[in-house]
Amino acid sequence: MKNISFYLVTDPHYYDSSFKRTGKAYEERSITDQKCVAETPAIIDAGFAQIAKDKDTDMILIPGDLVYRGEYQSHVGFRDRLYKLREQGKRIYLITARHDYCEDGEPVEFEDDKLLPVKGMPRAELRDFYKDFGFADAVSEHKESMSYVAQLSDGVRLLALNCDGDCKDFKGLWENQLAWALEQIKEAHDARQYIFAMTHYPLLPFSPIMHLIGDAHLTDWEQTAQKLADAGLDLIFTGHMHAQAVTEYTTEKGNRITDVQTGCFVGCPCAYRKVTLTDSTAEIQSYTVQDFAYDKQGKTAKEYFAWRFNRMIDRKMDEILPKPAKKLLDKFTLKKLGRLLCFRVDKSIENRLAKDIGIELVRNIFIGNEPYVKDTPIYEAMQKLLKRLHPVTHIVEKKMGAKNPVLSDIDTFILSMIGDERQRDYDTVLEINHHCR
Ligand SMILES: [Fe+2]
Ligand SMILES: [Fe+2]
Repeated sequence: MKNISFYLVTDPHYYDSSFKRTGKAYEERSITDQKCVAETPAIIDAGFAQIAKDKDTDMILIPGDLVYRGEYQSHVGFRDRLYKLREQGKRIYLITARHDYCEDGEPVEFEDDKLLPVKGMPRAELRDFYKDFGFADAVSEHKESMSYVAQLSDGVRLLALNCDGDCKDFKGLWENQLAWALEQIKEAHDARQYIFAMTHYPLLPFSPIMHLIGDAHLTDWEQTAQKLADAGLDLIFTGHMHAQAVTEYTTEKGNRITDVQTGCFVGCPCAYRKVTLTDSTAEIQSYTVQDFAYDKQGKTAKEYFAWRFNRMIDRKMDEILPKPAKKLLDKFTLKKLGRLLCFRVDKSIENRLAKDIGIELVRNIFIGNEPYVKDTPIYEAMQKLLKRLHPVTHIVEKKMGAKNPVLSDIDTFILSMIGDERQRDYDTVLEINHHCR
């Protein structure tokens, strides 16, 4: 097989530049959003320009959530940009996801304190609307689910799986869709082709906490992972959770599948990936959007993205935490918190606010390569804090551990979320299975 390279861009959530996007109603919506919305035309243009500069890589894969919330005009604006990339020699393969079609009256623009309805994109029109980006020249197509297989090069195929499911609670592959997918994997292997997949929803929970969030993975992720992996699929690219993560799963039969989830193109840290497939490896490199033409209030792009993320978490903590607990976090440094709960924190971190650390720990889960591994001062402080809190966490373990195995040991659960020993969420080399070739 000749080496091939492609870019992965996920969750661009384009919001067309023609829409109104100022005022109280917009601010209220955007403050609870990790991703940027008003800024998307500028960020996407900058990101696409970065990608277009690489003349050696002519493919881009986009696993869904192309627009903000199903606005028809956002699809028009986004597709125009894809056609421009095509003029620059790029081939684009995409699937759509749940933010790409309208549900009753959802698409809006924003003016002062009002949400004004705008025309939405019906789901049934998406396939033809984007036919030039994977569907039209597919080797095989599962039209009912808007899934297809594309021949990317001599010897490499892409299994592009839409996972809208029932467009309600079930996010996954229908029985006949999965049967078709398994057949496609077999056909590819019989023809000595390497085949990998992309879906919008992550196949695998990428952090212990993601086991507890239904929206963070395919509804029946474990069965699907088993079936795909046992059929010989070993690599899948996903998005949706707006997180950078590389996660693997091994079936009882010993077959491994790796889920490479890419963070949102327009949300902290605005990451995308370049993947090179060789005979036996998938080499993954990650990049971020470096700058974009927008009033960033004196911040660098990186600072701006982090600021957007932080205020979202801050707002969520306001909503979730009881007021006294929030006050405590807002005012307490780690030193004070340590004093209160009788544990010592390292001098290098004692003046940091507990609240800021809390926000950073959440942000790190999404940014990936979580840094607080064993022997770092934050890890040690967390370990001591958890020890002090054990009388309380023990009750949670007892109550909830049976139903949710990840909660049967809260200390391990938390500590494994703040530090990732493998540090491979950005750049890594994965071995890929070439028994089929
Ligand atoms: Fe999504
Ligand atoms: Fe998304």
